[in-house]
Amino acid sequence: TILVLDFGSQYTHLITRRLRELNIYSEMLPCTQKISELSFKPKGIILSGGPYSVYWDDAPHVDPAVFEMGVPILGICYGLQEIAWHSDQKNVVAGEKREYGHAILNVHKHSGKTAHVDALFAGLEDDMDVWMSHGDKLSQRPAGFVTVAASENAPFAGIAHEEKEWFGIQFHPEVTHTKKGTPLIKNFAANICGAKQDWTMDAFVGKEIERIRALVGPKGQVIGAVSGGVDSTVAAKLMHEAIGDRFHAIMVDNGVLRLNEAKQVKETLTAGLGINLTVIDASDRFLDLLAGVKDDPEKKRKIIGNTFIEIFQEKAKEIAAAAKGSANEGEIEWLLQGTLYPDVIESISFKGPSATIKTHHNVGGLLEGMHLKLIEPLRELFKDEVRALGTQLGIPEDLVWRHPFPGPGLAIRIIGEVTRDQVRIAQQADHIFIEEIKKAGYYKQISQAYAALLPVKAVGVMGDKRVHAQVIALRAVETTDFMTADVFDFPTKFLSKVSTRIVNEVDGVCRVLYEGKSSQQPTTSELSGHEFANGQIVTSKPPGTIEME
Ligand code: XMP
Repeated sequence: TILVLDFGSQYTHLITRRLRELNIYSEMLPCTQKISELSFKPKGIILSGGPYSVYWDDAPHVDPAVFEMGVPILGICYGLQEIAWHSDQKNVVAGEKREYGHAILNVHKHSGKTAHVDALFAGLEDDMDVWMSHGDKLSQRPAGFVTVAASENAPFAGIAHEEKEWFGIQFHPEVTHTKKGTPLIKNFAANICGAKQDWTMDAFVGKEIERIRALVGPKGQVIGAVSGGVDSTVAAKLMHEAIGDRFHAIMVDNGVLRLNEAKQVKETLTAGLGINLTVIDASDRFLDLLAGVKDDPEKKRKIIGNTFIEIFQEKAKEIAAAAKGSANEGEIEWLLQGTLYPDVIESISFKGPSATIKTHHNVGGLLEGMHLKLIEPLRELFKDEVRALGTQLGIPEDLVWRHPFPGPGLAIRIIGEVTRDQVRIAQQADHIFIEEIKKAGYYKQISQAYAALLPVKAVGVMGDKRVHAQVIALRAVETTDFMTADVFDFPTKFLSKVSTRIVNEVDGVCRVLYEGKSSQQPTTSELSGHEFANGQIVTSKPPGTIEME
């Protein structure tokens, strides 16, 4: 294991990312981690960048024990300055100008008496294209170190201790803009630290199944909600592989799912994957509660969220009662949750010297009053690793690559009141849009796409008749983190085809809009003068969100 200590840089998670790509296992912890409280012995430590200056009074510093563990240390940016600061509490200064962007790094080979000082840049070119992002820099080389690389702006852009395997670099090898960043990280983790490159999905599955079995015990039972999305399906399949029918999956049909979704998920999970699944059709209960809720999307979210919890808990009680009687099964003690590593990072990353560390609240509501313990088999994985795991576990391709779907479902894509007829229109339009996207081969390029139903009526002519019907807005975005997103650029021909199909096939719709790319500012007249349009239908995130509500 390589331990990554986080000083709050926006790039820290990329360090773990690059290590994973090298099949090296790593764990990220906040920089304040006490070494005596570590549950494993790392082979090496990477100190991340961070937005502070080491010479500030309240600057974060690592536990001094880090430097006494006898393992190699690599400091990146702030991490370099932290290593220098540890040596003599001086030599770090604010640069005259911030250095941000590409820089040419001059690597000095054979710069020290000891061979290890060259190990970090072994096999790399003498002139490297690197990415810098720093204000502070070293003004002098700390005692005991040699310079192994320099850039025009940072004369000590790479330093190495002559005796200990301590290295510091001013640039960021973890970002893809640094061309040979990954080989450098490999030099450190695999060659200098000797970390094994054996973190593969195959090894993960075996290890995780063993871990689940040991945790749950020979009779223990687990309950969990599935949605048909990739995370919950992969987590459920893994549980099924580990403990068979002692894992109980529950799917709640809330009446605002995609067209035929509950039926399809049931087929895939039960017949296809053998998972012990109960589907509860609670559509009426949800739709009755949603009736009359018009203007407040948060109210829709609350109704759906709370009702989901109620139904899940009712069902969990039933399953638990039924399970109690059976001879070789224990009580249900565990709740499955498909938490991924980015959520874990979000909750453990260093937020500043005085910030309290946020805990993860995804299932807060579900856990309340249920006295269950959480089991999170995906908490070490990134999304693409979950997909690879899904494929390995035999989950069908279309499910592995499915776009995310929000918990409140179509309710936040039907602007205004959610009625049964509005759900029908939204489902049908969405189905056509996604079907055409798949046919045209865009599905994997797009991160999320859907058809939303606007609460306005526009005029149209259909079959020589003047009609007054509703408007569908299509949205398709590309994003890696769902925090920011760009709209997808469809050819006009494709959009015309989708529009024609929706207007022809979905009763109650006469127009289709796309929140697409265009250099022209839309005018409100394009929306037939309805007040819904505030002049923005070409909207990335920000300022828009991915969902409509
Ligand atoms: P926004 O609309 O905030 O969406 O840009 C970002 C991502 O989050 C999803 N989303 C939700 N997921 N419950 C969920 O489970 C919600 O209330 C919710 N709102 C948005 C959205 O689909 C997108 O992937």
